Amino acid sequence: MEPQVEAITNVSNLVSPSAKTERMQLLNNIIAPLYISNDLCCTLERRIRMSVEWGLRLKNNPFTSIKCFPTYVKSLPTGKEECECLAIDLGGTNLRCILVSLKQGREPVLKERKAVVPISVQQGTGEDLFRFVASEMKSFLDSLPGGLPNDSCLPLGFTFSFPCSQTALAAAQLHHWTKGFKCSNVEGNDVGRLLSEALSAAGLNISVVAVLNDTTGALMSCAFKDPSTRIGLILGTGTNACYVERLDEVETADGSEGSMVINTEWGAFGEKGELDIIRTVWDAELDNMTPNPGQQVLEKMVGGMYLGELIRIILVDLKTRGILLVGAYPTQEFSLLQPGTFTTHHLCEVESDPLGEFTRCRKVWGKLGIPDPTDEDCFVLRTVCEAVSRRCCLLLAAGLAALLKKMDEKDVTIAVDGSLFRYHPHFGRKIEHRIQQLMGAGYKFRMLMSEDGSGKGAAIIAAALSMEQGSCSANSNQSSN
Ligand code: BGC
Repeated sequence: MEPQVEAITNVSNLVSPSAKTERMQLLNNIIAPLYISNDLCCTLERRIRMSVEWGLRLKNNPFTSIKCFPTYVKSLPTGKEECECLAIDLGGTNLRCILVSLKQGREPVLKERKAVVPISVQQGTGEDLFRFVASEMKSFLDSLPGGLPNDSCLPLGFTFSFPCSQTALAAAQLHHWTKGFKCSNVEGNDVGRLLSEALSAAGLNISVVAVLNDTTGALMSCAFKDPSTRIGLILGTGTNACYVERLDEVETADGSEGSMVINTEWGAFGEKGELDIIRTVWDAELDNMTPNPGQQVLEKMVGGMYLGELIRIILVDLKTRGILLVGAYPTQEFSLLQPGTFTTHHLCEVESDPLGEFTRCRKVWGKLGIPDPTDEDCFVLRTVCEAVSRRCCLLLAAGLAALLKKMDEKDVTIAVDGSLFRYHPHFGRKIEHRIQQLMGAGYKFRMLMSEDGSGKGAAIIAAALSMEQGSCSANSNQSSN
C-alpha cells in the first residue's frame, strides 16, 4: 500500500507559533504510514503464525517467506554439560574465536579473540572468508599460554548467523547471504565442511561438531540456566527467532518423536508481499540501496543495520518538504544527504532523553554537523525516531506472540540477544507490553537477556554431543541426529 502522504506545500517560510503548530501537524500526517493500529498488529500476528505453519509443511513451504529451517538440535541443555570446547562466532562485522570451559554449577568461562571481518572479505570469495576465519583461530590458539588445552582433537561449535538448510547438526548449507555479506561460492554449500577444510589446511586438529544459528545459541545459553526457555530472539544487526517445536509438526525433518529447535528466519517475512500493507516509500527507498533488494523485508524494518538509514531517509524527506531545519542549511548542503550518516546508535541516544528534554538529541544533531537545532528540530527528530522504534517493537511483538501461540505452552522464557535490544533504552519494556496485549493479561512469559549465546550456546551443544559420545574430544563431523 502506498503511504497516505497528503500533498504538502513547502512550509519553510512559516515562522509564527501557529505556523509551528501547523508544521508539527504536517509532520504527523507525513509519518502516519509508520503507525500500526492494534487491529493491524493482530492481523500481522496471524499472518506471521500462518507463515510459520506453512514453513513447517512440505507442500506449503515454497509459498511462504518464513522458511522454518530444522536445526537438528533436539534436546535442551541439562545444566550438567562439562567440557572444554571451541566456538567460532561469525554473523556480522565481528568474528570471534572462543575457548569455553563448562563446569556444572558454574558460569561458563570464556577466553576469546575478536577480529573485524573487513568489507573486502565479507564481499570477496568464500575461500578467502574461510581462510581468514581459520587463520584467526590459529592466531588465537597460538596466543593461549601453553597452546591448546590438550593434544586431542577439540570439538568446535560454529555459530554461523545466516539462513542455512540443515540435514544434520554439523551439515548446514547456506541458503542465501544477508546483512551485507556477499562471498562467492558459499551459497548452496555446506559451511561446516568449508570451515573444517580451512581449519585442516591451517594445520589445526579441530572437529566441527555443530553448526548453529545465533538464535539457537541464545536459546541454549539461557536454557542452561532457565529450563522454561523456549524461544531465542536476536535483535542486533539483523533479526531472527528460533523456537522449540514438536517434531510431529515438522514435516521438513525426519522423525516424529520429541521436539526440535526451529530456526524460523523470520527476517525474510514480507518477501511474498505479506508486509506490503505497512511498507512505506521510505522502506522501498532503503531496500533499493541494499545489496539484496526485495529480500529480508521484515529485517529491513527492524534490524540495527537498517533502522538508522531508514530514519536518515525520512529526515531528508522532511527537510525537502520544509518540516526540518527550516530556513537553515540549504537542502543540498544537508549533512544527512550522505548515506550512513545517521546510525542506530544515534537512534538509541535520541530516545535516551527523558520526555520533553533534548540534551542528548542536541548532541546527536551536533555530531551530524548541526550545532544549533531549534526545539522543533529536536522534537521532529525525536518523533521520527519514536515512530520507527514503535513500529519495530510492534512487529517484533507480533512475531513473538505468533510463536507463543503456535507453541501453546504456559509460562515461557524468551532468550534475547543483540546490540539493538541491549542498548535501546525502551525496546524491552515496549515489546513485553505489546506481547502481553496480544496474548491476554493472564498469560505468563518473560524476556531474559542471553549473555553471549553465540559463544556459550555453541559450546553447550558441542559439549552435550561430546559427552553423549563418551569423550570430551568428539571426532565425528556429521553426527548428532
Ligand atoms: C540472518 C539470521 C540471523 C539474524 C540475526 C539474519 O540476517 O538471516 O540467520 O539469525 O540475522 O543475526
